[in-house]
Amino acid sequence: MIVITAPTGQIGSRVMGILLNEAPERGEELRVIVRDPGKLPDAVRARVDVVTGSHGDAEVVDRAFAGADAVFWLAPSHPKAPSLDAVYSGFTRAAAKAFTVHGVGHVVGVSALGRGTPAAGRAGHVTASLAMDDLIAGTGVAYRALACPSFMDNLLRQVASIRDDGVFTDTAAADRTAPMAATGDIAAAAAGLLLDRSWTGTGEVPVLGPRTFRRTTRRASCPRCSAARSATSGSRWRTCAPHSPGAAWGTRSWRATST
Ligand SMILES: NC(=O)c1ccc[n+]([C@@H]2O[C@H](COP(=O)([O-])OP(=O)(O)OC[C@H]3O[C@@H](n4cnc5c(N)ncnc54)[C@H](OP(=O)(O)O)[C@@H]3O)[C@@H](O)[C@H]2O)c1
Repeated sequence: MIVITAPTGQIGSRVMGILLNEAPERGEELRVIVRDPGKLPDAVRARVDVVTGSHGDAEVVDRAFAGADAVFWLAPSHPKAPSLDAVYSGFTRAAAKAFTVHGVGHVVGVSALGRGTPAAGRAGHVTASLAMDDLIAGTGVAYRALACPSFMDNLLRQVASIRDDGVFTDTAAADRTAPMAATGDIAAAAAGLLLDRSWTGTGEVPVLGPRTFRRTTRRASCPRCSAARSATSGSRWRTCAPHSPGAAWGTRSWRATST
C-alpha cells in the first residue's frame, strides 16, 4: 500500500497519475489523504482508498498509515503560518510519529536543494525543509528527500505579464545561475522511488532540470511603444515616462546554459 499526500497539488496529483498507471500491475494498492475528496476526479476516487482530512492531523495520519508500506510526503505551503518551522517540521510531527507506530517502511518527501552549503542553516524555506528531513530520517524509516530547486512551474504565474507586456520580473539577483525543476519531473522521481523500494537508509535525491538557467537583462526598449530609452550607465532598468510614469521597467529573460 502506497499512501499519497497532497493528491490535489501540482506534484501530488502527478505522483497519483503515474502510480495509478503503474502500481496496479505491481499489485500495489493506493491510498490518498485529501481534505476534500470532491476535488479528486471521479475516475481517481473510484480507484483509490480515500482518507479524508489533513495529513497534518494526528488522527488522520494514524488512520491513513495503518498498513502502509510507503508514503509520499509533502508539507504544504502556508504563508500565514507563525513560523517556517511550523510549516515543515510542525506539520510533519504527527506523521513522523505515525510512521514509527505503523512500521511504515519507506517515505519519499519533497524537500529543497541546499544541504551542505554555507547558507543551509539560514536559508528560510530551505533550512526549514532540511529540518523536516532530519525529523523524518530520525524516525528510522528508509527516507529519500527530493532535493528540489525552484519549480519551473512558478514562471507560469507570470504568463499574463509575459504575454501582455513582454515583461518577466524576479527579485533574484540578475546574472545568477540557477537550476530549476518541473513538477512533472519531481513527481516522476517520487513515483520511481515509491515503486522500486530496494533502497535503504536515508539520503537525498537532487531533482534538477536538464539545464541550468542564467538570468539576463536583455530588453532595452519599452514593451508598449518600442522606443529605445537611454539608461544610466550600469542601470539594468529603464523608464518609459509615457507608458509607465515614474516606474522602472525591463525584461529579464532566462537563458539556458549547459550544466
Ligand atoms: N515552489 C517552489 O519553487 C518550491 C521549491 C522547492 C520546494 N517546494 C516545496 O514544494 C511543496 C509544494 O508543492 P506543490 O507545488 O505540489 O503544492 P501545491 O500545488 O501548492 O499543493 C498543495 C497541496 O497541499 C494541500 N494542502 C494545503 N494545505 C493543507 C493542509 N493544511 N492540510 C492538508 N493538505 C493541505 C492542498 O490540498 P487542497 O486541495 O485541499 O488545498 C494541495 O494538495 C512545498 O513543500 C514547498 O516547500 C517548492
